[in-house]
Amino acid sequence: MSTNLVVIGSQWGDEGKGKVVDLLTESAGAVVRFQGGHNAGHTLVIDGQKTVLHLIPSGILHDGVMSYVGNGVVLCLRAFKTEMDKLVAAGVPVAERLRLSPACALILPSHIALDQAREIARGEEKIGTTGRGIGPAYEDKVARRGLRLDDLSDPETFSTKARALIDYHNMLLTQYHKVDAVDADAVIKEWLDYATIVLPLIADVSVAIAAHHANDQHIIFEGAQGAMLDIDHGTYPYVTSSSTSAGGAASGSGIGPRDLDYILGITKAYTTRVGSGPFPTELHDDIGAHLAKIGQEFGATTGRARRCGWLDLPALRRAILNSSIDGLCITKLDVLDELAEIKVCVAYELDGVRQEIAPLGAERLARCQPIYETLTGWQENTVGYDQDEQLPQAARDYLAQVSSWLDVPIVMVSTGAERRHTIIRQPLLV
Ligand code: GDP
Ligand code: IMO
Ligand code: MG
Repeated sequence: MSTNLVVIGSQWGDEGKGKVVDLLTESAGAVVRFQGGHNAGHTLVIDGQKTVLHLIPSGILHDGVMSYVGNGVVLCLRAFKTEMDKLVAAGVPVAERLRLSPACALILPSHIALDQAREIARGEEKIGTTGRGIGPAYEDKVARRGLRLDDLSDPETFSTKARALIDYHNMLLTQYHKVDAVDADAVIKEWLDYATIVLPLIADVSVAIAAHHANDQHIIFEGAQGAMLDIDHGTYPYVTSSSTSAGGAASGSGIGPRDLDYILGITKAYTTRVGSGPFPTELHDDIGAHLAKIGQEFGATTGRARRCGWLDLPALRRAILNSSIDGLCITKLDVLDELAEIKVCVAYELDGVRQEIAPLGAERLARCQPIYETLTGWQENTVGYDQDEQLPQAARDYLAQVSSWLDVPIVMVSTGAERRHTIIRQPLLV
């Protein structure tokens, strides 16, 4: 029996999903991205060599494994070509290993211009987006005026549809936002040039993954962003524009929901967030600065400094609830190595009432005060450990306590950025 494994971020993104997916791919037949776009930055480190992926699934470095970009992804072909070229230059046969859904919504330069203009217009209230056009592209998809990858197969129809859409965007850009228009002719020409590269990669992803399943191969569904950035269940409006929860794996790839076998939530041993929005356990002190420094908390996509804070169990409980998380992988345990005391937010207080689970949306969460328990640090090096027995007792106690508070098993522990710096407590793809 093969396993269809969903790997999602259970915080605000950057939990180490890329590292974990790359490692698990050793046992898989296929890896599928199902939402988000090039707002994601997934870092893989293999024998000291770092690869950052944005749109291409984190299984791409493995020979004999197919990577799929599902219908739920918003695809910027300019970003895609840059990423593909870089991988090809590094010797990765991308065209052999990658297939794209014809139903992917396209991100055009005018979506990017709109994203950036809207952020400026919001001023102090800005979302802090990655500026990659993600929100406007999903907006056009849902409004049924967007372009899909398949539209490129007929250049004439593509040109007509693209011109109409860019004209509409230009009306918003010039008349509402008072910024420059985007040159529709130039975009259409550039995008039709990409057709020669991407059309041969188009495949019906739902049918392809069903074939891997029929061949008894494990399939990994690679989430982007994290549960608290989910369009519905996150800290709205300070969220991304897609369903980052496990359910998104079904709608964003076309696999039936009953076929999702195991949901793995990736969680840092602390919390980070990039961009604006409430973050109850955020630290503005030396410990926050220490986590940022040791954890090298700078964005893999935009290079922005990530905000850092303690582990937040009420937020994790919402992720566990919304995504049926079966097991957790705790990453960056090593970043806590030097701390004498480790705090964990076990609940919030809101208007004098204890809350076990994060409230929906941004406004209530912004008023929540964290209630902490303090655990003893281990103050020993754990970097690179790959066996449970190597961990100091205090580190094992920390993991056991977090697991008990959440009532979810911790099935993997990551102790370094390298692929092999991982403790596998329960093999998931057997
Ligand atoms: P993703 O978006 O969830 O794939 O995560 P990112 O790649 O954006 O951010 C995670 C960062 O932490 C990357 O720089 C990884 O190389 C690094 N990383 C992952 N796991 C570990 C770990 O266990 N320890 C340390 N120190 N770094 C890690
Ligand atoms: P990975 O997959 C962390 C955040 C942005 C912003 C909000 C909306 O690497 O974990 P968007 O550009 O999506 O409209 O921005 O979401 N964000 C991420 N934060 N990791 C990511 O991806 C993110 N992708 C988007 O910072 O707050
Ligand atoms: Mg990232």
